[in-house]
Amino acid sequence: MKKYLTVPLTFGIVIALAIAASLAGAQKQPPDKLVFKTKMGNVTFNHAAHIKRANNDCKTCHDKLFQQDAKAPLGFKAGMHKPAEAKKTSCGACHHAGGPSFTTKGNCKKCHVK
Ligand code: HEC
Ligand code: HEC
Ligand code: HEC
Repeated sequence: MKKYLTVPLTFGIVIALAIAASLAGAQKQPPDKLVFKTKMGNVTFNHAAHIKRANNDCKTCHDKLFQQDAKAPLGFKAGMHKPAEAKKTSCGACHHAGGPSFTTKGNCKKCHVK
């Protein structure tokens, strides 16, 4: 008799947890790394390392610089990155001359790997 009860009960708990997780899931899991494919060679964005350097503050980048969606356009590639660097948007918000990280000029290979 007990057997017939525990199975649906466990099943019910699993479902309830799944629903709770999906409701809380407005906050998606941050990816470790993201790879952007380009004609210049793939760019690996170390998301975890960038989060650490931003002192775990997601708002440094989301959503003012990037959507929380790996398929959304980055808006960085136009004009060999010069417009984004000048306007300090996208990756250019930090990767520009005099910024907190290396500028694109002369550093193509720090990001693009063939
Ligand atoms: C230094 C900038 C930066 C910081 C800080 C940052 N992210 Fe991101 N995140 C990105 C970029 C860039 C993308 C990809 C956006 C795109 O492709 O348009 C991304 C994408 C994501 C995605 C989508 C993944 C997917 O597969 O679609 C999630 C979820 C995410 N971030 C969560 C977080 C969380 C949570 C934090 C804070 C703990 C955080 N991010 C902090 C830059 C950042
Ligand atoms: C909030 C500031 C910030 C943003 C936005 C940002 N970076 Fe960085 N990035 C840094 C810092 C700081 C470093 C480490 C310091 C250095 O090496 O100059 C770094 C380092 C890197 C490195 C070297 C490997 C590593 O992670 O240590 C790569 C590659 C890189 N960034 C790519 C990108 C790309 C691609 C984007 C846009 C999708 C981006 N970054 C956006 C701040 C940023
Ligand atoms: C901070 C990292 C970083 C550096 C440094 C960098 N790039 Fe990029 N590059 C990217 C990312 C990320 C993309 C994809 C951007 C997008 O989709 O908007 C990209 C895209 C491009 C594209 C578009 C390719 C395509 O498939 O459409 C060209 C061209 C390009 N980069 C040239 C360069 C050149 C030339 C340099 C050196 C002067 C350079 N990049 C330095 C990160 C970087």
